[in-house]
Amino acid sequence: MREIHLNYEELFKFVSKEELEERSTAALLARTKLIEKTGLGNDYIGWFNNPFFKEEGVWDEILAVSKQIREQSQVLVVIGIGGSYLGAKAAIEMLGSYFHKPELEIVFAEHTLSSTYTKALLDYLADKDFSINVISKSGTTTEPALAFRLFYELLKEKYGRDANKRVYVTTDPEAGLLRQIAKKEKFKSFYIPSDIGGRYSVLTPVGLLPMACAGIPIKEVMRGAIQAHQDFLASSFWENDMLIYASIRHILFEKNKKIEIFVNYEPNMVYLSEWLKQLFGESEGKEGLGLFPASVLNSTDLHSMGQYIQEGPRILFETILKIKEPTVDFTVPKVRGADDKLQFLEEKTMDFINEQAFMGAMYAHIEGEVPNIVLEIEKVSPFHFGYLVMFFMISCGVSGYLLGVNPFNQEGVEAYKKKMFALLGKE
Ligand code: PA5
Repeated sequence: MREIHLNYEELFKFVSKEELEERSTAALLARTKLIEKTGLGNDYIGWFNNPFFKEEGVWDEILAVSKQIREQSQVLVVIGIGGSYLGAKAAIEMLGSYFHKPELEIVFAEHTLSSTYTKALLDYLADKDFSINVISKSGTTTEPALAFRLFYELLKEKYGRDANKRVYVTTDPEAGLLRQIAKKEKFKSFYIPSDIGGRYSVLTPVGLLPMACAGIPIKEVMRGAIQAHQDFLASSFWENDMLIYASIRHILFEKNKKIEIFVNYEPNMVYLSEWLKQLFGESEGKEGLGLFPASVLNSTDLHSMGQYIQEGPRILFETILKIKEPTVDFTVPKVRGADDKLQFLEEKTMDFINEQAFMGAMYAHIEGEVPNIVLEIEKVSPFHFGYLVMFFMISCGVSGYLLGVNPFNQEGVEAYKKKMFALLGKE
C-alpha cells in the first residue's frame, strides 16, 4: 500500500480507461525526458535527482544551525517570495500545531509589499531577540532585497557588531548580489544548486532551514521525498500515480476543463494549496495553455464557492487531498435532553462527519458534471509532506511536457517587473 494513493474510480464517467491508456505512451516519454534530462528546460531539472537526497551531512548542518538560531533568538524572520517562501510556509502550517506557537516563532517578511504588514513586523521585533534567514535564488529580487535592508538595519541597531552572527543566507552558490554580500559580510550561508528553480526548491536549504527551525524533523521529510522519487522511477504506467495524475489533468484540459481546484478538509493545508497554485500556475500557464489552479478549504468553502462549483460554468475539475487518518479525533457526546436536534450525530466521530461532508460534496459535484479525483494521504506527517511535494513536482514536470511547454521557466513574471521598475524610476 502506497503512502499516497490516487483514487480515480469516479473519473470514468468523464474519461475512459482507453483514453488514459492512449495517453500512457506520451506520459512514459515525459518520464524518460525527466530521467535523461532531454526535455524542455533541462538545465533546471536539478530538483529531480536532488543532490540533497544524498547529502545527509547538509541535513545535519541545517539541524545544527537551527539549534543555534533557537538558542540565540525568540523569532526567526524568513525573508523570501514565491518559491523562496511558499514551500516552507506550507510545511510549517501543515506540520505545526494549530494553537501552540513553536519554541522559536517563525515569521515571514516581504512575501508582500504591504507597508502596514512590514511596519507592524518591524515594531513587533523591536523588543524581541531575532535572527534573519534571507532566501533568494537570484539574489536580486526586489521584495526580499528591500526587506533585507529594513530588517538588517534593525538587527544592526539592536546588536551592533554582533548583528552579522544573526544573518543566515540561502542563495545561488556563485551568482547574484546576495551571494556577494554574504561573502563580504561573512554571513553563514547555504546554497541552492544553480539548476534548481524557485518553486522546485523546497527540498533544499530554501525550505529545510526554516522547517528545521520550526522543529520539523527534516530527515523524515527527505525520506518521504526520496520514496516518492523511487516510486516514480520503479513503476509501470498503471502503477504510477504521478504519471496517471498528469495524464488525467491533460485529458481533462483537452476536454475543456480549464480549472483545477485543489480541495482539502484540513485548515492547516491551505498553504499547501498556495504552494500548489504557484507550482502549477507558474509552470504551465504559458503560450496560451495551462490549467488555472485554484483551491478551496471544505467544508468552509462549501458555504461559499460550493455554489459556483455545483452550478457555474462546467469548466472545472477537483483534485481532493484527503487525509485518511486524522491526527486527532473525538466522539460527539450524547447530551441528554438537548433540543438542538443533533441526536443523529451523537456518538459519531468528528472525522467521520467530515468524511461524510467530503463524500457528499464529491458525489454532488460529480452529478453536477465536475470530475473528481482523490489523492488519499495516509496521515499528516513530515514523511507524507516530503512525499507529497515530490509527488506534485514530478507530476508538474510530466504535465508540462504533455502540454508541450517548458515547466521550469517563468518569463511571464518579468512583465510586471518592467512596468513596476519604470514607475519607480529604476534605471
Ligand atoms: O519559481 C520561481 O522561480 C519564482 O517564483 C521565484 O521563486 C520567485 O520569483 C523568487 O525568486 P528569488 O528566489 O530569485 O528571489
